[in-house]
Amino acid sequence: MNAQSEFTPNDWDFYATCYDTLLQLKPYRELIDQVATEIDTRPSDKLLDLACGTGSLLATLANRLQLSELSGIDFSPSMLQQAKLKVRPGRVEFRQGDVNNILPWQNDHFDKVVCVNALYTFNSPESSLREVYRILKPGGDIILVTPKQEFENGLVLKAHAGSDKPDSYWSNSHASAEREECLIRSAIKDESVVKQMIYVAEHNRKIARTITFHFFTSQALEKLFTECNFSILKMVPVYADQCILVRARKKP
Ligand SMILES: C[S@@+](CC[C@H](N)C(=O)[O-])C[C@H]1O[C@@H](n2cnc3c(N)ncnc32)[C@H](O)[C@@H]1O
Repeated sequence: MNAQSEFTPNDWDFYATCYDTLLQLKPYRELIDQVATEIDTRPSDKLLDLACGTGSLLATLANRLQLSELSGIDFSPSMLQQAKLKVRPGRVEFRQGDVNNILPWQNDHFDKVVCVNALYTFNSPESSLREVYRILKPGGDIILVTPKQEFENGLVLKAHAGSDKPDSYWSNSHASAEREECLIRSAIKDESVVKQMIYVAEHNRKIARTITFHFFTSQALEKLFTECNFSILKMVPVYADQCILVRARKKP
């Protein structure tokens, strides 16, 4: 049995208990806003948030957009439980499901699919992207955010703090739990938030030990989308320059 098949949603369930601590970070709030702003829709559109987590993006979209269908899928019951608390009952169709499998929608169902900070955790980003292709209508768009290959969590903390210390001060936060805690303390003054962020960092570390992460360079991401028959409309750095946002359109 390899590391991936041993993985269960339970690690993410546990993470769900502290995941929304990220909302305390300015770059994360800005990211949600930026992705929501990137999505242009018509009232007849159907939109899916793939691996929606605790639903912060879905809640923002539910407030801002008029849509005929707003759906979210995630395999963690606890993540979904938190997400449901953020939206008016019936506003979002939530499904619990493993997106490493065939997605539970017909071909050409959605006008838009968003996927934020999740593709890197899937068994096969290519298979998942091909599934997104299948469920998107021709001409439909995916808006994807994913960590870049040299992702540095410390630089997200630097952006949160508005620090003018050099990047080298904030780099290699993953070198050890002690180093990460030291950087969290440098960036955040509120002790209760510091404690929660240390807890978040522990969960990230645990998940990273359990599954293989797929981080991409811009070039590798471009290749992946092209091979899956998408045209890239936009590719920009986001999240304190630690992630890449791609907007791509399904070719007929
Ligand atoms: C880092 S969180 C991102 C959540 C949310 N998209 C956000 O931006 O805050 C990754 C999410 O992917 C979900 N996830 C990971 N692998 C999955 C899979 N194979 N099927 C469904 N959901 C999955 C996890 O449960 C978790 O909610």
